[in-house]
Amino acid sequence: MARNRPLVIVTRKLPESIETRMMELFNTRLNDSDNPMSKAELIEAVKTAEVLVPTLTDRIDASVLAHAGPSLKLIANYGTGVDHIDIEAAYARGVTVTNTPGVLTDDTADMTMALILGVSRRLAEGERLARSGEWDGWSPTGMLGHRITGKRLGILGMGRIGTAVARRSRGFGLSIHYHNRRRVHESIENELEATYWESLDQMIARMDIISVNCPHTPATFHLLSARRLKLLRPQSIIVNTSRGEVIDEAALTRMLRAKEIAGAGLDVFEHEPAINPKLRELDNVVLLPHMSSATIEGRLDMGEKVVINIKTFADGHRPPDRVLPSQL
Ligand code: DGY
Repeated sequence: MARNRPLVIVTRKLPESIETRMMELFNTRLNDSDNPMSKAELIEAVKTAEVLVPTLTDRIDASVLAHAGPSLKLIANYGTGVDHIDIEAAYARGVTVTNTPGVLTDDTADMTMALILGVSRRLAEGERLARSGEWDGWSPTGMLGHRITGKRLGILGMGRIGTAVARRSRGFGLSIHYHNRRRVHESIENELEATYWESLDQMIARMDIISVNCPHTPATFHLLSARRLKLLRPQSIIVNTSRGEVIDEAALTRMLRAKEIAGAGLDVFEHEPAINPKLRELDNVVLLPHMSSATIEGRLDMGEKVVINIKTFADGHRPPDRVLPSQL
């Protein structure tokens, strides 16, 4: 790699101050149009770049990486999730991959709480009614939702974001349950008064609210399968701010339509940006366009992480946010 000023290709428009910093530090090619790159454009980019800065809208799979030129040494992802990158194929070609962990935690956890409240208290429905001009005034039985205080929250994936959701949820009086590959440290369990469930089946059958906070990996694809969703109680709700692929969206939609689950708050979808039209028709769902991490502060922090990862790597050191195949 050309030390100090590697050729960096950025696939999408980033916050201006981040782009300017990249221009100052590296030999940077920006994408002013912000149009997602086609596969052909991505192939062209990996052929020439020393560093590629993609986002979750770029599928950097083995067939793209097969065209990587010898100069490609780093994929510095602008984002935390890396399920759009074939990490093993990258490392097999000697390409390091980094991401931007930690800086989206609070924003994503905040939005998870907004969705838990939004679904339980029928926020979107109420908003639609107030705007419609058809609201005929307060009534004792109008727009009744469900109280969240005292309910059981089952967190699927107790990493940074899951833990941040648990901390916030304690403030709302929810009791915390979780399923995770590994049990978290006793001190965290004690702090959160959290109950660990080794069996996901056992946990979800007993919860009022399920929050999906695990990454999408081959092991978590359709973790909430049609069979598992059937274990949910009819009064329960599901919130997903992680990745759509973790839930079988078709099965979830069927169950929501049949009122076998009370509601869902979804910020992410299995075939983004497409959203199942049957899901869009439902009143008992709150749908958002993958915006849980969308704060100006978060996007700037992500950009700073990308810059640090590239600079550290270009200076010949190990970048701080390496993603290794063994972590998946
Ligand atoms: C990420 O960084 O993976 C987030 O999903 C972006 O919102």
